[in-house]
Amino acid sequence: MPHHTTLVAALTAALAALPSAQAGMYLRSSPVLQLDAKNFDSLITKSNHTSIVEFYAPWCGHCQNLKPAYEKAARNLEGLAKVAAVDCDDDANKALCGAHGVQGFPTLKTFRPGKKPGKPVVEDYQGPRTASGITDDVVSKINNHVAKITDKDVDDFLAKEGPKALLFTEKGTTSALLRSVAIDFLDVIKVGQIRNKEKGAVERFGIESFPTLVLVPEGTDSEPIIYDGELKKNSVVEFLKQAGEPNPDPAPAKSKDGKKKQKDESKKPKDETKAKADEPEPEPEEAPEASSSASSTAENAASTMIPIKPVSSTEMLQEKCLQRDSHTCVLAIVPSDDSEKGTRAVESLSKLNAKYIHGKRHLFPFFSVPDSIGTELGLRKALELSGEVELVAINARRKWWRHYEGDFGLESVEAWIDAIRLGEGDKKKLPKEIIVEKVAQEKPAEESSSEETRATDPEAEVETEAPQPAEEAESAHDEL
Ligand SMILES: *[C@@H]1O[C@H](CO)[C@@H](O)[C@H](O)[C@H]1NC(C)=O
Repeated sequence: MPHHTTLVAALTAALAALPSAQAGMYLRSSPVLQLDAKNFDSLITKSNHTSIVEFYAPWCGHCQNLKPAYEKAARNLEGLAKVAAVDCDDDANKALCGAHGVQGFPTLKTFRPGKKPGKPVVEDYQGPRTASGITDDVVSKINNHVAKITDKDVDDFLAKEGPKALLFTEKGTTSALLRSVAIDFLDVIKVGQIRNKEKGAVERFGIESFPTLVLVPEGTDSEPIIYDGELKKNSVVEFLKQAGEPNPDPAPAKSKDGKKKQKDESKKPKDETKAKADEPEPEPEEAPEASSSASSTAENAASTMIPIKPVSSTEMLQEKCLQRDSHTCVLAIVPSDDSEKGTRAVESLSKLNAKYIHGKRHLFPFFSVPDSIGTELGLRKALELSGEVELVAINARRKWWRHYEGDFGLESVEAWIDAIRLGEGDKKKLPKEIIVEKVAQEKPAEESSSEETRATDPEAEVETEAPQPAEEAESAHDEL
């Protein structure tokens, strides 16, 4: 194949030009964990965490194409699951790739710890080759060792031996973050979650906002410690460390049975409680709404809001979002009288707004659009929107729009916004009739310019234009 030779030559030249590059496709600084035949077992097979592994060859075009999405998935999943890669072109790894039945590049496989240590459940990843597709699939495969607690069984939970961590939450599903924390502290700290509607426990612990994490250290009369940091993986782990060391991952090579010596000394023998099966079975099918890349971060923003701007006139909406050269706008079309869904949609956007502004991340602007204005501009008709509340993203300049479908909750809205940012997900053609020629600027210059800075998010514009690897992905296999 002459074109492989060319690729190899080009690659060799590129590598020579980049002093920091390695022979593999990923740089040392990449968030993707780089594996070889030596460390594969300890990092993947024997891990208590879920992983996805890409078997690739550096010369393979589809592997190169996947790289940005894969690195993005690795960042999304940081601390939650492992995103790893094996260079099958390296002679030292050929047997490993062969043993995993790799026949083309890239091959993606997920490894979920099974009942027997060291014998993970391995599945081919066949989903879209996008950051969110990969993230969602891996998140859905993070084992769930988090117990669901209610007022009825909270006493039993607290009476269990050893320290306990309890998350008070408004959600019924278990976030990827909490699941990964429970995996880190398997057999060290029992992790549970309890809903805000369990009034007895909420009152007993004096919980006033959700989510709130509480640590109940060893011993029945120990004072619960309320966590007031951010719900981020690292900080939560640091907080919980005061009650016990997380399991080392990978486990140190030497010790087979003595690895938890220090902790077990301070505890009674575990055998008596073991039979009671205090860990719930993994619940893989669980939590579609927890399975967004946003799940770990969405909760952080939960308490603060910066209200999104209401659109006060048809002209304003046209000027901001519907001109021929307007950038991406996110519009919540809401009924003028209070509606539960409308409030939820606006609240979710307001929380995200706060998060982006506090995080100094310039994103496309969010507006709430009174139903009357949406109707007057023919927006509802042109886009065939019939829901009581509608959430859309419009980019008049590039003539696309996207329709949000979901429960308007924070996580789901954030996942949708993230997908837009990445240029992923369904895009529809924007009907011509709602785009207007430049309208005369009526606003004072300063007001619209502040809007402008937010509207020109370079990421959003560049990425929406980028070719979508997903479209190619179906047939995306370079043969060996
Ligand atoms: C996996 O979890 C067990 C407890 O169930 C623990 O003893 C072991 O050290 C963990 N392994 C790793 C690699 O963290």
